[in-house]
Amino acid sequence: MILVTGSAGRVGRAVVAALRSQGRSIRGFDLRSSGLADEVVGSLDDAQAVAQAMSGINDVLHLGAFMSWVPADQQRMFTANVEGTRILLQAAANEGVRRFVFASSGEVYPENNPQFLPVTEEHPLQPTSPYGLTKLLGEELVRFHQRAGRMETVILRFSHTQDAAELLDEDSFFSGPRFFLRPRIRQQEGFGNTAIAHLLRAADIGEPSHVLARNQDGRPFRMHITETRDMVAGVLLALDHPAAVGGTFNLGSDEPVDFADIVPLMSELTELPIVTVDLPGAGVYYHTSNELIRRTLGFSAEWTVKRMLSEAAPARSRRLAEGRQA
Ligand SMILES: NC(=O)c1ccc[n+]([C@@H]2O[C@H](COP(=O)([O-])OP(=O)(O)OC[C@H]3O[C@@H](n4cnc5c(N)ncnc54)[C@H](O)[C@@H]3O)[C@@H](O)[C@H]2O)c1
Repeated sequence: MILVTGSAGRVGRAVVAALRSQGRSIRGFDLRSSGLADEVVGSLDDAQAVAQAMSGINDVLHLGAFMSWVPADQQRMFTANVEGTRILLQAAANEGVRRFVFASSGEVYPENNPQFLPVTEEHPLQPTSPYGLTKLLGEELVRFHQRAGRMETVILRFSHTQDAAELLDEDSFFSGPRFFLRPRIRQQEGFGNTAIAHLLRAADIGEPSHVLARNQDGRPFRMHITETRDMVAGVLLALDHPAAVGGTFNLGSDEPVDFADIVPLMSELTELPIVTVDLPGAGVYYHTSNELIRRTLGFSAEWTVKRMLSEAAPARSRRLAEGRQA
């Protein structure tokens, strides 16, 4: 029996579906129900709920976490991601679990302030966001259990991940603020970044638009956006592959996407104009190597952002049609 935490989340849902299609028995664990026959609805920091979820479990895929960059969410995030991971690991060790796979993040380096490119697993771990710190502390807890030698552990440093259908959705958690101006203004207001919000508001042309983010020198942002299905493939390799044991792997797409390439393609599909904004600072510009997981576990990324857009466009049309009907 495999326990999947975060089973109602983006990656968790897809991992659960993949495991079920392989006929494997799984139990979900999340704050929210995902309608699974076998699931525990509870919080990772609730030792009783975790003990209940862990009973009879052989392997754990720990994908549940609270992702937030809002200062007011910090307490809740450390409780879920650090204390929750500690409790889960201890319960797994007590249960005699075989393998424990942990979803970490590229924010442990962090990728948006790299010391060298491409970012490999050897890059120093110096997170600058509280979220990245919670993931580094989670990794340390996993390494502690790895040293104790009772469980096989695997750390996957996840790329930024989205469902293809989210890419052209201005209401989506990531793509909304990343590629659409007005959602980005609202996001920056929520973060308390008054000066940035002001700069973005000044760029508003009085109608909804995309935003092409560049740094203070006019260099467009560049980063990885990995499709959830590629992440699922990597998670399954981490669960099953003998060579994964004790390893730490970057997991994500082969190549980063340059916003100067992708935003015009988005604009063609949405028919929204593009507003270019030069933001203070060095901006986002990275390339993370997935060579280790390709070489060691045979991982292969199947999705490019262009391929994701071919799914995102019909998904957007369906959403807009449903909105018109409502
Ligand atoms: N999506 C990304 O870009 C990205 C990037 C790097 C790392 N990650 C990590 O990958 C994992 C999966 O990400 P995702 O995109 O599926 O995120 P998601 O937010 O869609 O899913 C996370 C799930 O965890 C659950 N959760 C949150 N707090 C909980 C708690 N206290 N107890 C139990 N469940 C709780 C949420 O309800 C949610 O269903 C997470 O650990 C995340 O930190 C994601």
